[in-house]
Amino acid sequence: MFETLEPKPGDAILKLIGEHKEDPRAEKIDLGVGVYRDAEGNTPILNSVKKAEHWLVGTQTSKAYLGSRGDIVFCDDVEKLVFGDDAADDDRISTVQSPGGSGALRVGAELILRANPDAVMWVSDPTWNNHIPLMGNAGLKLQPYPYYDGEKNSIRFDDMMETLGTANAGEIVLLHGCCHNPTGMDLSRDQWDLVTDLVEERSLMPFIDIAYQGFAEGLEDDTYGVRLMYGRVPEMIVTQSCSKNFGLYRDRVGALSFLSPDADTAKVVDSQALSLVRTIYSLPPDHGAAVVSHILNDEELRAEWLGELAGMRKRLQSMRKLLVEELKSVAPDHDFSHIALTTGMFCYLGVTPEQVAALKKDRGVYLVDSSRINVCGITEGNVRYLAESIASVL
Ligand SMILES: Cc1ncc(COP(=O)(O)O)c(C=O)c1O
Repeated sequence: MFETLEPKPGDAILKLIGEHKEDPRAEKIDLGVGVYRDAEGNTPILNSVKKAEHWLVGTQTSKAYLGSRGDIVFCDDVEKLVFGDDAADDDRISTVQSPGGSGALRVGAELILRANPDAVMWVSDPTWNNHIPLMGNAGLKLQPYPYYDGEKNSIRFDDMMETLGTANAGEIVLLHGCCHNPTGMDLSRDQWDLVTDLVEERSLMPFIDIAYQGFAEGLEDDTYGVRLMYGRVPEMIVTQSCSKNFGLYRDRVGALSFLSPDADTAKVVDSQALSLVRTIYSLPPDHGAAVVSHILNDEELRAEWLGELAGMRKRLQSMRKLLVEELKSVAPDHDFSHIALTTGMFCYLGVTPEQVAALKKDRGVYLVDSSRINVCGITEGNVRYLAESIASVL
């Protein structure tokens, strides 16, 4: 049977990581990788996480199955994190723990299809490259809405509104809660207000993916869009990831929340979500979620985690600023100021695929063809070399 299968191309980023690893040049730089890195190039385990793991190992008495929801306390905790403290008492919201944000996205897509097999979802152009297969392979009919202008390095907000203005009632709009991946360009608060008006007017359903909460402006500030919609729309889906903000990538921690018009509908939606989980992966992994829950409920650990999160956010902000300053000095005729306006781990550098290839070949600077860079690859030690490299290919 297997002979009927065609080989699938490997992941472009994994290929890039491999090429970077093989490159013998000492000054090489990896801007492709999809995880946070500190100034030493490491993806550390947060101290707050280490402490919570010690606590967990010392106190856990059983590894017996939990239900398909996962840990109920974790679900309440992350609901509060994204919707606000009052959400835990709101019986219109139901949440299941998930294997990362990816697991949440897939179960969310499957649930939509149970409700409406012909459902249409609008996704930003561009969007995180795994959104398309995660949601599309589930069977959702995907439609792009304009989001980023690569010439002007800014959001195509008017075009986005015009396109979404043609969407039909009941269609779903996938929005990035903050730190838009890959562009790093987020909607302003005024723009969120206008998108919310439109979603209400046209009876669209928002699906907000928030995978970088705490990486843009701050833990609370980054929920502006989610909380605005929560106050205004009858139905919404929110997916969260703890991969980045807790650094728990491989432990697979995320959550999927549904806002329903009333408590009775919420119960039905919840039962459908649990039955989907049961038939896909039965129940989510426990370790990482137990760690997150402990951190959020322990005052000292929570404060330590908030400090570590702020440290990651500030490093990203300062590296962006530094790169823009260095580029201004080595390439004064070119405008890279958009980089300083972006948030989170990623942004587009704004160079051509040919220039990307030259950066790799001539200078050992590795980034994907679209020119998306992971800002974490920049350090005070390599930023000058990076700016000179970019200037050399312009
Ligand atoms: C926009 C976006 N959503 C969701 C995810 C899912 O992350 P994970 O499944 O690792 O938690 C990512 C990861 O890169 C992402 O960038």
